[in-house]
Amino acid sequence: MTASLLAPTGEDTTGRAGFTALSLVCENCGARFDPEPSAICLTCLGPLVPVYDPNRSLPSRAEIQTRQKSLWRYHEWLPFDGTPTLSPDSGFTPLVEAPELARRLGVARAWVKNDAVSHPTLSFKDRVVSTAINAAHTFGLDVIACASTGNLANAVAAHAARAGKPAWIFIPHDLEPAKVLNTAIFAPKLVRVRGTYDDVNRLCAQVADNFGWGVVNVNLRAYYGEGSKTMAFEIIEQLGWRAPTAVVAPMAGGALVTKLHRGFRDFAAAGLFDDSLPRLYGAQASGCAPIVRLVERGSGRIEPEIPATIARSLAIGSPADGLTAARGIADTGGWAAAVSDADLVAGIRLLAETTGIFTETAGGVTTAAALHLAKTGRLGPNDEVVLCITGNGLKTLDPLVDALPPSPLIAPKLREVAALVEAA
Ligand SMILES: Cc1ncc(COP(=O)(O)O)c(C=O)c1O
Ligand SMILES: [Zn+2]
Repeated sequence: MTASLLAPTGEDTTGRAGFTALSLVCENCGARFDPEPSAICLTCLGPLVPVYDPNRSLPSRAEIQTRQKSLWRYHEWLPFDGTPTLSPDSGFTPLVEAPELARRLGVARAWVKNDAVSHPTLSFKDRVVSTAINAAHTFGLDVIACASTGNLANAVAAHAARAGKPAWIFIPHDLEPAKVLNTAIFAPKLVRVRGTYDDVNRLCAQVADNFGWGVVNVNLRAYYGEGSKTMAFEIIEQLGWRAPTAVVAPMAGGALVTKLHRGFRDFAAAGLFDDSLPRLYGAQASGCAPIVRLVERGSGRIEPEIPATIARSLAIGSPADGLTAARGIADTGGWAAAVSDADLVAGIRLLAETTGIFTETAGGVTTAAALHLAKTGRLGPNDEVVLCITGNGLKTLDPLVDALPPSPLIAPKLREVAALVEAA
């Protein structure tokens, strides 16, 4: 696929937005490509990534700290020349210290990187859509689309609404009702597909080729993934320009873990922190854990799975960035863990009860995986651990309905309260 095929006839593909997307390079064979809505090398089918000028001027810690509190404060590491104009307000979510959770894990310190309160759609997908929609804008691709397990659908629909661009959203037919509603409210064309996420994703590859749309996680994937690096940048800055010893993050397609790895390496290379890279730990639900299983095997390829888990946002059986995520984990001396649906519900409750943060099923997977990694000695008493909590609990209420104890119902009488206090 080439930029000229996708661009409206006769138009230049760069510059019209007042800023441009960076050129691309194949991670496999090193082939270079002009900026274009394409994520796959035409020569070897390897993944494309943006090329950053190694001689560009980089900001100091002090300079970064004077900038607006959004992911664009790190714009030198985001894939544009000039100033992107769309989605200016996402990123810079809180990093919350969690001493009681650290105690339960048996580690020295723990923090929650709280993307459950990401602006505007309460998941880390606001980060990747921020970069993808600006890339689409530079290419003159007015229709934005995605294949999604739910959160990406929310983010694409919201960011497109704000930008005044039409959006086409494709989701598996049986997603959680709140994920569907949180997309539909922004009035995109929302299409439910009879099939798994992997079926939806294959359909979207054809859609990108046929209609010339900007499908954020298909033909814009090279630009989309870069948004996730900002979670690593924020962790370093918010810890006072130092690295934790370990980071635990959920995996679906594997892009987040891949780009956390890239982000930590970018900031280390820029001299913005001096510690070793944190060990990266990936978390999946055992009903869909192809990346965890690759990490456990130690080599080879991803073996696709048919998902069977309530962690719908992580239910990708054939993860596009699974191999690079597994390599990043191995490179840093980390590991991966898969947890049962019952354990992930317990993880949601543990996080809520110890930190006051309500996460969705993906965050339950992350918390339960951290607990498992601690119990099996992968995280130890000297560790300083960041848990990447990537989505909000209000979007996945169903698994909790029967999990929580019923509340007593009383008459408005003091003696009834007294009886409860007595029994408590
Ligand atoms: C809440 C949440 N966390 C984590 C992920 C995993 O992201 P990735 O596909 O980059 O591995 C997703 C993906 O949809 C998600 O919705
Ligand atoms: Zn190549």
